[in-house]
Amino acid sequence: MELPRSRRSAHSPLGRKSDSAHTHTPVADEKGSRLPVLLSSVLLLALGGTLLYTTSFSLNCGDQLEQSLSPSFESDSSAPTIRKVLDGGVLPTSHVLDELKLSDADNTLGGLLADLSEFDSNSCASRAQHLQRKTKFKPSQELVQRLRRYEAQHRKCASRAKDFGQPKSGSRVHDSEAPEEECRYVVWIAYSGLGNRLMTLVSAFLYALLTNRILLVDRSSDMSKLFCEPIPRTSWLVPSEITVEFVQGLNESSPQRFRHGSSTAGDNSSTAEFSYVHLTHTSDSGDEMFFCDSGQQQLDTKPWLFIKSNSYTVPGLFFITQFRADLSVLFPDKEAVFHLLGRYLFHPSDAVWGWITRFHKSYLAHHDQQVGIQIRTFDDSPLPYFLEQIQECVEQHELLPKVVKNVDSIRRSEELQLQNLQASEKDITVLVTSLHPYYYENLRDVYLSGPTEGGESVSVHQPSHEGWQKTNTFGHDLKAWADIYLLSLSDVLLTSGWSTFGYSAQALAGVSPWILPRSTDGQVPNPVCVKARSMEPCFHRPPLLKCKIPEGANPATILPYVQPCEDVKWGIKLITTPPTQRFFQVDDRHGLHASVRVTI
Ligand SMILES: *[C@@H]1O[C@H](CO)[C@@H](O)[C@H](O)[C@H]1NC(C)=O
Ligand SMILES: *[C@@H]1O[C@H](CO)[C@@H](O)[C@H](O)[C@H]1NC(C)=O
Repeated sequence: MELPRSRRSAHSPLGRKSDSAHTHTPVADEKGSRLPVLLSSVLLLALGGTLLYTTSFSLNCGDQLEQSLSPSFESDSSAPTIRKVLDGGVLPTSHVLDELKLSDADNTLGGLLADLSEFDSNSCASRAQHLQRKTKFKPSQELVQRLRRYEAQHRKCASRAKDFGQPKSGSRVHDSEAPEEECRYVVWIAYSGLGNRLMTLVSAFLYALLTNRILLVDRSSDMSKLFCEPIPRTSWLVPSEITVEFVQGLNESSPQRFRHGSSTAGDNSSTAEFSYVHLTHTSDSGDEMFFCDSGQQQLDTKPWLFIKSNSYTVPGLFFITQFRADLSVLFPDKEAVFHLLGRYLFHPSDAVWGWITRFHKSYLAHHDQQVGIQIRTFDDSPLPYFLEQIQECVEQHELLPKVVKNVDSIRRSEELQLQNLQASEKDITVLVTSLHPYYYENLRDVYLSGPTEGGESVSVHQPSHEGWQKTNTFGHDLKAWADIYLLSLSDVLLTSGWSTFGYSAQALAGVSPWILPRSTDGQVPNPVCVKARSMEPCFHRPPLLKCKIPEGANPATILPYVQPCEDVKWGIKLITTPPTQRFFQVDDRHGLHASVRVTI
């Protein structure tokens, strides 16, 4: 029964529900909402079925039936690799999707995830049946240990989180707890689109790991409908005693804003126990002290931090000297931060998983190679030059086979195929994600217009086309998350610059993508695409670093694995192996425009 509204909505100044009849049990909350979630997802999927925009075809029907009867996603690892240049040789030899069987396989992704028996059975199909690509990036032992320790701490502290804003009960003197057992929190505030939210969740989680805090997730978005609970036997959602209105009400005008307002001057009010950290495109140099040692010392005094961000701030955490040793032990492969933490945190909910697996089974399961093309143009209508750019990129770098255009050659090629003399019987699947059907339709037509030179069959698919971005609409976010996951199964990726959607897919995949730079003049840019130096996302708005590093100095001399991004020239990203020489572009927001050549 619903309590009378007046009682339920009584809030203390800190936004706590003062309704004492309501006790928070996160897991029960989850279950309570399961039925409506499932019902609504059934409706959505039924509706989605009529919108589903996809076509399957094959130019080479020879062994289609045989393949579709194959019980496993595993392909023959001796299958010929296409032109041997794919992904600069970084990829494993075969695409091999890793369908892990509960009985005989390591379903913890190399110790990254807690053992399945730790979780509620039947709580999350995607955790039990990964479809993920095999990856060469394994978690370090230190990371595995840190995650297990984190999980224990999260279980302990999540239940105490409902006490936020309450006067400390009892005296510390009589408290049997040692001071280091005090619970400390980072609350992630939902902000911006799904791709940004994945960026900021990984950033906040890494920050929590580094500062012995636990991460709690704002309830205001559809996070609980899109993702399974990642931590065994507890919840990562902010307890309902801390209201959505309170969490979402924090903004740059809040007096608790870090390095702004009264909280900087040693406030002794009850609000002094938390800080609001503002790391968005409107952050100023005060907010950016977050990336300085002195700023971290200040934040260390607060048991609660509320962070709002729309950037991938992980590369910035490497600037904080107190974190650096820890980071290098946890992540020997610097570029695997999102890859590992993203695979740890993000498991599609059952509603999203149904969508993913049905699409995968129908269109993507049987192939030798999957090429993902992620298109985000920030324009309302499709751009013909962008289609050209994609076609030139795949041709120049031999990412997809060439189509035979000459009529005689087509006839000859078809005869060869009939006689089964063609060497390749390779099936290539192209997965296009875009808000528009235009690119998919045109690419499909290219591969219908003639046979490929090597006799490979190329099929083109697009799971959804939403027309425009509808942030925070559940149906839209469901499809966006499904698209990201399906893209992350690709062996080769082409991504649009500047897109957090593409960053998420490439990092989950463990694949350094080919980036399609944005045109500045409506013409096909030159080069048409560039190979990313790593799979890591770009931090679009790095701090000016006035703290440790002298103004105007080059951060790359201190941090060789922090490099400029390929797509956003003032952005920074992590790479594993630094080159011996490179340019580092110092942030030009303040007109510095410095470009310093560094030799290490
Ligand atoms: C911040 O939030 C307050 C109320 O929570 C609102 O009145 C104010 O307009 C907001 N400011 C900004 C800049 O969004
Ligand atoms: C803060 O402390 C000062 C004295 O140190 C006191 O005068 C003031 O009332 C306190 N404010 C609050 C909100 O407790």
